[in-house]
Amino acid sequence: MRKRVIAGNWKMYKLLAQAVDTALELKPLVANANHCEVIVAPVFTALKTVSDRLEGSNIKVAAQNCAAQNDFGAHTGEIAPIMLKDVGCSYVIIGHSERRQFYGETDASVNQKTKAALAAGLAAIVCVGEMLAEREAGNAEAVVQAQLKSGLEGLTVADMERIIIAYEPVWAIGTGKTASPEQAQDMHVAVRKTVASMHGRDIADRVRILYGGSVKPDNIASIMAQPDVDGALVGGASLEAESFARIVNFDR
Ligand code: 13P
Repeated sequence: MRKRVIAGNWKMYKLLAQAVDTALELKPLVANANHCEVIVAPVFTALKTVSDRLEGSNIKVAAQNCAAQNDFGAHTGEIAPIMLKDVGCSYVIIGHSERRQFYGETDASVNQKTKAALAAGLAAIVCVGEMLAEREAGNAEAVVQAQLKSGLEGLTVADMERIIIAYEPVWAIGTGKTASPEQAQDMHVAVRKTVASMHGRDIADRVRILYGGSVKPDNIASIMAQPDVDGALVGGASLEAESFARIVNFDR
């Protein structure tokens, strides 16, 4: 049985006090959510305070990016996975499409960062997803398969136990356009098949695959009803505690 995961990616929103307020407001609203893991991903500058304030709760903290190195060194502006672990993170999001599109992230950097994150004891939420033109050309599955093969290259089965895959079609992010539940299900099956070809059926059946892209309180139930959708990575609708809590508690 795969434990579901609902993660809120706060992107570059919220000053420190606002991040803390949202986290504290969320805490009681999801305190009874035993059916899934709950994760929030604030900006770097809020990670320490938010994780301190959430200590003892069922909400885990993720960073939104990390460096590809854990060794201290001359990497101005970078933050090592061990530093994220040090301030209370359990997860890090890697290879989000915004980082791929606007900040030069590649499958190769995703691979290095994923390995560095795992080496630091973090679990990684590795993002994949096709652009609209790729879907329209009928290449969506091939694109995602290639991202997985390179992004997860060289990982062991034990590593895969600490990987969560997030399928986020780029055309559905922040657009209000969600993939249909069937489109999500079809791609999640394809993702599982790719993982099976790399690491065997057993781990493919166990890996959690989240859907992301315009997930809202009113569409979460139909997405979660798909057998291969194990959770959601939520952007805009995770910024308000009340709305994110409705997503977490989609089946209550
Ligand atoms: P939205 O939910 O705002 O579409 O963002 C999705 C996303 O990018 C989560 O990582």
